[in-house]
Amino acid sequence: MRKKLSWHEAIFFRTSRRTYTGEPLEAGQIDVIQHLIADINNESNLHFQFIENAESVFAGFTASYGLLRGVTSVIAIVGNSKIANVQALLGYYGEFLILECVALNLGTCWLGGTYDKKEAKNVISLQPNEELFALISVGNVRNEKDLKEKLMSRFGKNKQTSDELLQEKEGTIPSWVNSGIEAARLAPSAMNKKPVRYSYLNQTLKAYIAKPNKEIDLGISLAHFELGAFKTGVQGRWIPQNPLLSEEVVAFVFQKE
Ligand SMILES: Cc1cc2nc3c(=O)[nH]c(=O)nc-3n(C[C@H](O)[C@H](O)[C@H](O)COP(=O)(O)O)c2cc1C
Repeated sequence: MRKKLSWHEAIFFRTSRRTYTGEPLEAGQIDVIQHLIADINNESNLHFQFIENAESVFAGFTASYGLLRGVTSVIAIVGNSKIANVQALLGYYGEFLILECVALNLGTCWLGGTYDKKEAKNVISLQPNEELFALISVGNVRNEKDLKEKLMSRFGKNKQTSDELLQEKEGTIPSWVNSGIEAARLAPSAMNKKPVRYSYLNQTLKAYIAKPNKEIDLGISLAHFELGAFKTGVQGRWIPQNPLLSEEVVAFVFQKE
C-alpha cells in the first residue's frame, strides 16, 4: 500500500458524517476504494469488503435510534480474530481508507455499534475465525452539517492539546514527531474517548493505550501519526512492544527507516 500526501491533508478536514444525501457513489470513486481495499487485504491478510448497497443494515436501526440517515454504502471491517493485535491493525488500515474516502470528497463515519449486526452478517462474507469488528459508512454528504449532525458532533469538540497527547518527553522534539502528534490529535476514537498516549524518551517514539480501551483506537492514531511523520519525509513502521509493558497496556514503537 502506497501512502499518499492527500491522506495527510484529509486529516485536517475529516469529521464524522452521519447524514448522507442518499445519492450513490460514482463508478470512479468505487474503483479507487476497491483498489485500496485490495491492496490492504493483500498486505495485511485482513478481509475488508466494500458493500455498495447496504441500506438494509440500517433500515430497522435508524428508525429506532435515528443516528444515521441516508447511508447507501459501507466498508465492512473484517479480520481473522487470531491475527496478533488484529484490532490495532483494523483501525490502522481502516483509517487510511477513511482518509482516502475524504480525499474523494465523501463523508465517512466509523461505526462500532449503531447498525443492525445480524443484517450486516447477511451482506458480508466471513471465513472461519473471521469477525465483523466495525463498519465504515461512506457516501455523499452536503458541505454543511445539518442541525442533528452538529448536535452529534458537539461530543467531538473537546480538542486534545499536543501536551495531553505526548505526555512523556525529553530533549528536543524533532519536527517529524511534532508533525505526527499534530496529526494524531485529530484521530477519531470510539465515544470520542481519546484514549491513546505517546511518549518520546531516549529518542524513541512510543504509542500506547491502557486496557480496556479498544486497540482499534490505537491503530487509528498510529495511522494519523505515521502520515504526520510522512509529511516531513520520515517513513517508518510500527513494532508491537514485546514483551508488553504490562498486561494492562498495549504499546507500539515507531521504527524509522
Ligand atoms: C472505533 C470507533 C467506533 C465508533 N462507533 C460509532 C458508532 O457506532 N456510532 C456513531 O455514530 N459514531 C461512532 N464513532 C464515531 C465517533 O463518535 C467520532 O469519531 C468521535 O466522536 C470524534 O468525532 P469526529 O470523528 O467528528 O472527529 C466511532 C468511532 C470510532 C473510532
